[in-house]
Amino acid sequence: MPSDIDDLRRELDIVDVISEYINLQRVGSNYRANCPFHPDRTPSFYVSPSRQIFKCFGCGVGGDAIKFVSLYENLSYIEAAKHLARRYGISLRIKGEKEGPKEVYDALEAVSQFYHKKLKESREPLEYLKSRGIDNSSVRRFNLGYSPSSQELVEFLKRLGLLKDYEKTGNLVRFSDGAYRDLFRNRLIIPIRDARGRVVGFGGRILQGEGPKYVNSPDSDIFKKRELLFGLYEGLAYLKDLKTAIVVEGYFDVIALHQEGFRNAVATLGTSFGRDHALQLSKFVEKVFLVFDGDSAGRKALRLAVPHLLKAGLEVYPLYLPEGTDPHDFIFSRGKEAFRRLLDNSRSLFEQLLYRIREGVNPEEAIRDFTYFVSFLKDEVEAYSLLAQLSKLTKIPVDVLASKMYRREEPSVEEEDPRVSFTEKLFLKGLFELRPEINIEELNLSSKAYELAKSILAEEYYHIPEEILNLKVDDLETAFWSSVDKLRIDIPEEELKAQTASVREFVREAMRNHRGGIKPASARRWRGKLES
Ligand code: GTP
Ligand code: MN
Repeated sequence: MPSDIDDLRRELDIVDVISEYINLQRVGSNYRANCPFHPDRTPSFYVSPSRQIFKCFGCGVGGDAIKFVSLYENLSYIEAAKHLARRYGISLRIKGEKEGPKEVYDALEAVSQFYHKKLKESREPLEYLKSRGIDNSSVRRFNLGYSPSSQELVEFLKRLGLLKDYEKTGNLVRFSDGAYRDLFRNRLIIPIRDARGRVVGFGGRILQGEGPKYVNSPDSDIFKKRELLFGLYEGLAYLKDLKTAIVVEGYFDVIALHQEGFRNAVATLGTSFGRDHALQLSKFVEKVFLVFDGDSAGRKALRLAVPHLLKAGLEVYPLYLPEGTDPHDFIFSRGKEAFRRLLDNSRSLFEQLLYRIREGVNPEEAIRDFTYFVSFLKDEVEAYSLLAQLSKLTKIPVDVLASKMYRREEPSVEEEDPRVSFTEKLFLKGLFELRPEINIEELNLSSKAYELAKSILAEEYYHIPEEILNLKVDDLETAFWSSVDKLRIDIPEEELKAQTASVREFVREAMRNHRGGIKPASARRWRGKLES
């Protein structure tokens, strides 16, 4: 039977609850501490276990365990109750709250607890976590789990009467013969919560064997990858307190950073960082560190994410780690002090660009980036003052710089643009990812696709629809070149035949002396051409 708030209050022990936040000292039958809600040198904060209340004789706050959490975590009373119910595994029903997909949320929460329990009984995934430096505090904080088998999960859900509800998430696939398959079986489970703390889906990391490194829950009404940020809920109090977020790429980066005390780290669920992520962060923070491993992909990621962050009114601090090192590696190999120094010594995006121009490090590119990024600033005064600084430094008149700003109409429809065909989407994805030598003027593109292609070449990624950025293609290189073939303008039949013949000859030649330097990828591309 689910409990209501009164039941919950009876089940909680206020000393346990408060001890999770501050150190309590026993005095007689009560406990005391320095009050966490006002500057307090003499301990004037008291907790009474017999009455299950707390009271500060300095600032006057007081109440029950739920009240304490609501004050400490900056939550409403009801949100605090839900938070505690989750923390202590109590199923809570709030009167008057609309049912909606509540059973689906309940099922997700239950499954998350099931996975967690299984992890604690399974040697292999525990060893794996240990080998990667992830300790028990993280296992608890993120309620990490393991899925041993589809069958056990199905039986568990049947016992709770939640099987049908859970099927709606798409995490459990039912075959026509009635058998079920858990998308995450044999994987390490990373529960993903929305900003209110409800489990809405999972990421599953492979431990061994064949298959993609990660599998995520499919998108649904309650699981939207374009909005969700992993670590947001777990770090919410810290984000709010520091008014700062650290944006990294991977689940393991978030887990490692939280473990080492950087509890305001968040990551997307493997998709690009978009507008909705930025809006979500802007509710809680003012400043965002964007962490990249210092390879060339960083520049692309920067140009993708920054416009959204600036438009949401956030300050951006890009941060580069040594080539090939992600935050998870960095924090364990160099230590948290080194990471702290990186954060403390970083400069804002615009300061970095001005610095590059001053020092002559690829200054043309830096000027171009500067004017592009400035155009997304919400605050026009700030934009003008930055352009004035750039002008002073480069001696380029402000109005010339201003004319370089990125001004393009907001597109009316952002997604599922019918004016861009699937072939064109493949082409654009390839153009973005592979940067091939290609002349887009020779292709038969719709005006919308042409415009997008031009933006990509100019590295102005702002309007590229997320469905293109996040398109999953197994062999992008082959798919890209076959899309190019389809989009080529009117090649006469004869010429096409001749071309195919010469391609065949080329491949044969390459195979004959395969030391001759044909790279496997391009061989594949040519073979793809022949087969299509
Ligand atoms: P480790 O490689 O175990 O350190 O994990 P990571 O979290 O650091 O992953 P990585 O840096 O390789 O990738 C960053 C993020 O991209 C991951 O956290 C996932 O969200 C996503 N991702 C990586 N590989 C896959 C994949 O094969 N499929 C999907 N859907 N997402 C992936
Ligand atoms: Mn990693």
